[in-house]
Amino acid sequence: MNIHLSKSQIGLDGVPAAETILSHVDGERGELIIAGERVADLAGRSSFEGVTARLWNGATAQSLSEANVRASLGAARERAFARLPALLPATRGLPIVDGFRAAVAGLRGESGLDHEATIVGAFPVIAGALVQQANRLDPIAPDPTIGHAADTLRMLRGRAADAREIAALDAYLVTVCDHGMNASTFATRVVASTQADPFAAVTAGYCALTGPLHGGAPEPVLEMLDAIGTRERIKPWVDDALARGERLMGFGHRVYRVRDPRADVLKAAIARLKADGADLPFASEVETYIRHALRRKNPDRPLETNVEFFTAILLDALAIPRQAFTPIFAVARVAGWTAHAREQQRTGRLIRPSSSYVGPMPGDLR
Ligand code: ACO
Repeated sequence: MNIHLSKSQIGLDGVPAAETILSHVDGERGELIIAGERVADLAGRSSFEGVTARLWNGATAQSLSEANVRASLGAARERAFARLPALLPATRGLPIVDGFRAAVAGLRGESGLDHEATIVGAFPVIAGALVQQANRLDPIAPDPTIGHAADTLRMLRGRAADAREIAALDAYLVTVCDHGMNASTFATRVVASTQADPFAAVTAGYCALTGPLHGGAPEPVLEMLDAIGTRERIKPWVDDALARGERLMGFGHRVYRVRDPRADVLKAAIARLKADGADLPFASEVETYIRHALRRKNPDRPLETNVEFFTAILLDALAIPRQAFTPIFAVARVAGWTAHAREQQRTGRLIRPSSSYVGPMPGDLR
């Protein structure tokens, strides 16, 4: 009794909570493997639909092709659009990040249809409709004949995207579609382990994603870059923030002890998108100084750039409003969540850990 846990034990640092064939994070080597491939080899070469097929095949022993998934997601986007009149009323007056949670919570399965496709297809339709709603515009109907990344951009921005923009968003969706036992995937697996349906499981995943220590970081990254503003202000701004004990968004990671491999994949995608290099030099200068300042402040704890820093710059360069960054992260990560929910349910085992009671015992209070 009254055994206090360490910070690492409270955070379940390094505790394996599942066996998975979906993805692997090697924090010492800075390596991420998704469905058997290094992330750098997937992004830019495989489409979101192609990687989603691989994740779903891994979790369910199916043999879906990229074309199968492309067709099923196109049809699912159309079904989701037809359901918007039922989903959107719950989102009115809410910020996009909260409206997305309300709409996702309203998703339901339809008999005879694949729940995973229904969910993954619905996410960009909801995100697009919420961005349009924030601008007092009607939602844009999906186009099932184009790819998921292209249609996501269309529905978000109300115009067709060009090939470079589509390639950049596709690279982003692939890069962040799955990432081991991150907090939102763990939340998804806990709910799935109760044999609740996948709609409930991904709603839990999204709720976990919204926090600034996880998927809520990119909007604050842009706010930080805005607040810094000019090259001359980088050093004083960063030094002051660290002296106040603030956490700098887009840096540090529970697992990586070296640079997050996804940061460089996204940096390369931004460079391909913006051939003139716009946006990158200032952000890169901020990044370099923050890494240096964090090394000085915490010499024993490597704190490197994480995926969220370049996510913010990439999504901003695609003219996606920053209020929608977390829902767009979810558009990608839901591929992983749906696969993990299935993989967890196949084990048939409820996740039910224990806690260390440090409260009073009967008699102590008398
Ligand atoms: N800025 C400043 N200091 C930091 C940062 C940061 N970004 N990250 C960690 N530290 C400090 C901690 O305050 C702690 O200092 P202390 O020992 O004086 O208390 C020390 O470094 C060690 O921190 P850890 O316990 O090793 O960090 P933890 O594993 O709990 O945190 C996390 C990981 C939550 C990602 C953290 O680095 C952070 O808050 N980063 C900023 C938010 C962010 O970028 N989130 C996105 C993560 S990526 C993703 O989820 C997709």
